[in-house]
Amino acid sequence: MANRQRSSPIDSLVENDAVRKAARALIAAVQDERASRKLAARNYTRCIRELERLRGRPLIYPMLASGEGKGARVWMADGTMKFDFIGGIGVYAFGHNDADLLETAVVAAAGDTVFQGHLMPGPEELRISRALLRHAGDNMKHVWLALSGAAANENALKMIFQKHTPAEKMVVFEKAFHGRTMAMAELTDRPAFREGLPQKGNVLHVPFYDPSDPDSTDKTLEALEGHLRRYPGQIAGMCFEIIQGEGGFNTAPREFFTAVMGLCKEVGIAVWVDEVQTFVRTGELFAFRQLELDDYVDIVTAGKLLQGSATLYTKAYNPRPGLVAGTYAGSTVGMAVGARLIERLENDGYLGPEGRIALLGGRIRRRFQSLAKRMPRAIGDIVGTGAMMAFVPWNGAPEIVKAVLEAAFEEGLILLGAGSNPGKIRMLPPVNTSDEELESAFACLEKALARVREDHDLPC
Ligand SMILES: Cc1ncc(COP(=O)(O)O)c(C=O)c1O
Repeated sequence: MANRQRSSPIDSLVENDAVRKAARALIAAVQDERASRKLAARNYTRCIRELERLRGRPLIYPMLASGEGKGARVWMADGTMKFDFIGGIGVYAFGHNDADLLETAVVAAAGDTVFQGHLMPGPEELRISRALLRHAGDNMKHVWLALSGAAANENALKMIFQKHTPAEKMVVFEKAFHGRTMAMAELTDRPAFREGLPQKGNVLHVPFYDPSDPDSTDKTLEALEGHLRRYPGQIAGMCFEIIQGEGGFNTAPREFFTAVMGLCKEVGIAVWVDEVQTFVRTGELFAFRQLELDDYVDIVTAGKLLQGSATLYTKAYNPRPGLVAGTYAGSTVGMAVGARLIERLENDGYLGPEGRIALLGGRIRRRFQSLAKRMPRAIGDIVGTGAMMAFVPWNGAPEIVKAVLEAAFEEGLILLGAGSNPGKIRMLPPVNTSDEELESAFACLEKALARVREDHDLPC
């Protein structure tokens, strides 16, 4: 008979032994069958070309996943293996084929509905909302779920504008990235990402922290003060990334944020932290709490590793009923897995200054430092923290970054670029990356760097 150790309908049914066993059996059957289905090299290439044709442009990397994986390893549909140190751009917390998360997903998928609307939430929405608010600090009272980081950001922006109406302007940092909707493309500081789009012209920029400039904080404050003087009463809020993800893993000390956020508070504009990429990866769910910025933050957004997205906000920013809605709160599987992975981060020692995520950052840094002993010119600045780390290859010129990424892919390691001037190469590895996986991945990286050095006649 099935055991009944947890009987609340709110708890995940995966805790039930009989249910988990059935989920395990289904997963095993699917994996057995999948293992027998490989694409021959020619067909594999043909499928990739077809997908590229359907999408109307080439894939960044010519790859088609098989659905098979283990931790940081992922197998392609032709049977080749890669080390996945980018995880769908930061989406996979425990890497590929994590048994517990797959079982959680299978059990959630066997529930009533594939997606949950805001009209009729299920227990998964309650679980993930509770889990998020548990980590968001005393000031954050509410959470609204959505499907993508950009959608969560749109909701945050609407809440800010409604509260500060008729102010129409937002301040953002140079090199910021906030998503791909019309409004987010304008907040994002990348002209190529909004080419051909009409703009409303309500975005004001200030420089992000520059560690090489002792006057950096003052310069940012001056720029913000300048905007406040020029547009009195017209600025609704300011958006912060604690670590700029797409912008190149740039970060700043607490004093920079307290100075800039302090000025926002002083003049009464909203402080919004976009944690779509940093969510979990710095060693806490929310990086702003690690920096003890609770007193400053009005709204925070999360996404990616959450398996959906969320906007969390104080009581003062709770919008009037018509403003934020939409059909979907999330997929049932996404919400169940998101809630489950937060429980595991809490229970298995991943969080906190001595937690496994913080230690992972140190382990990756040491690997880079050891590589730098053999190839000192190839490894420039090493930046980031926890499960989001990056380095500058040689001088960070775009063609060198591209060459290293391509060579790494060919050697079996998936990475991605970030930022420009200098360009960096980033890693968003699983939070449970093992030493063996790190060693193998860095061996691929070293071979890739050696190839690029030779092809481009670079110094060692
Ligand atoms: C900081 C930040 N905000 C927002 C987004 C947009 O998230 P999504 O692509 O899920 O819409 C991203 C995605 O990379 C991001 O890094």
